[in-house]
Amino acid sequence: MMQTLTVGLGERSYPIHIGSGLLDHAELLKDHLPRQRAAIVSNTTVAPLYLEKLQNTLRSVGISSTPVILPDGEEYKNADTLNLIYDALLANRCERTTPLIALGGGVIGDMTGYAAATYLRGVPFIQIPTTLLAQVDSSVGGKTGINHPLGKNMIGAFYQPQLVLADTDTLNTLPDNELAAGLAEVIKYGLIRDLPFFEWLEQNLGKLLARDTEALQYAIARSCRNKAEVVAADECERDGRESGGRALLNLGHTFGHAIESGMGYGNWLHGEGVAAGTIMAADLSQRLGWIGAQDVARTRNLFERAGLPTVAPDLGTEKYLDLMGLDKKVEGGKLRFVLLKEIGRAVVYGEVPEGLLRQTLQACVPFDQADGTTSHSTKPASGQVAGYQDRHD
Ligand code: NAD
Ligand code: GLY
Repeated sequence: MMQTLTVGLGERSYPIHIGSGLLDHAELLKDHLPRQRAAIVSNTTVAPLYLEKLQNTLRSVGISSTPVILPDGEEYKNADTLNLIYDALLANRCERTTPLIALGGGVIGDMTGYAAATYLRGVPFIQIPTTLLAQVDSSVGGKTGINHPLGKNMIGAFYQPQLVLADTDTLNTLPDNELAAGLAEVIKYGLIRDLPFFEWLEQNLGKLLARDTEALQYAIARSCRNKAEVVAADECERDGRESGGRALLNLGHTFGHAIESGMGYGNWLHGEGVAAGTIMAADLSQRLGWIGAQDVARTRNLFERAGLPTVAPDLGTEKYLDLMGLDKKVEGGKLRFVLLKEIGRAVVYGEVPEGLLRQTLQACVPFDQADGTTSHSTKPASGQVAGYQDRHD
């Protein structure tokens, strides 16, 4: 069964199709490909799995496609790799009417979208997300871009796709840690604006971890509905009120992006950074007196059950403050955090006393207990401080 939602942006509205086997459904793509040509951007992991299937589907309706295959990894989400896309498009004489199709996770989607926004000053763009994270978040809403050595997603554009096609069958080949990373963004929607969904996740997390098709489709559709509503109301994140608009989607991201770039892109998955970052945001919300210890524990418990880290790496307080100073929500030099008033309601807040922030930064990193264990889930050793690569030096 396929579900279709709409991102309501007037003339630029577009459908999100979610369901099993959609990569075989040429009719879903054909309407968006008026010419007989497309370019497909993918990577060395996803292309061997799904490129041929997609190319065959396109061929069945008379569309030829040029593949552009990039190296795989967050560490390649940069200007050099972006240039490889432009090189291939130019070498193959792709035109203004040649759509770019992103086939992959959020890294491919974000980079392809930015290439589509800028190549020949803008070409049509289609998202075919193949990770849970991309199906519930990054493929929807038009944020595109690349990382800069000094900060995550710092270069980019708002550029909406014409179609999002989420084939849930592609999740069958996704590694467990990548599925968990996607769950971090799913849990986010419950925390920021959808308490009944948070409660549903508490009841049904086991089914999602077991990749139950129906449960996954429900969670993806509910996540996309939440995201579509937020994006339709504040497409370019300009709503500066405390009630927050699109900025609310960044719960856990101010801390999470600092973890990602501080640890060296690719060492912590985006969703892992978001998970540990969300616990930091919950801790800070408690220190402000907004939520109770039981709410923090409930939040931590759901992330832990999803197999996500809830303890942040010890970058050092000053390093965190430095990295967070580069957050896109900073206004007039002031950090603005997405914090929880309660489970199911987040706000954007710019008046956090530095002392409380420092307390959170100290409390949420690993500390050794007398028995030699740490108190909560840490990321496996390979991603711990031992693997720290400081790109700022
Ligand atoms: P990713 O794109 O790196 O994909 C994760 C890994 O899974 C990669 O190794 C990829 O090759 C592999 N993979 C993808 N699909 C697969 C499949 N079906 N089977 C097997 N392996 C598969 O990471 P991600 O978690 O999808 O996305 C993270 C990125 O998304 C970050 O760069 C983040 O900044 C960005 N993001 C953007 C937005 C947005 O609104 N634009 C929102 C959230 C996150
Ligand atoms: N993932 C944050 C946003 O789309 O705004």
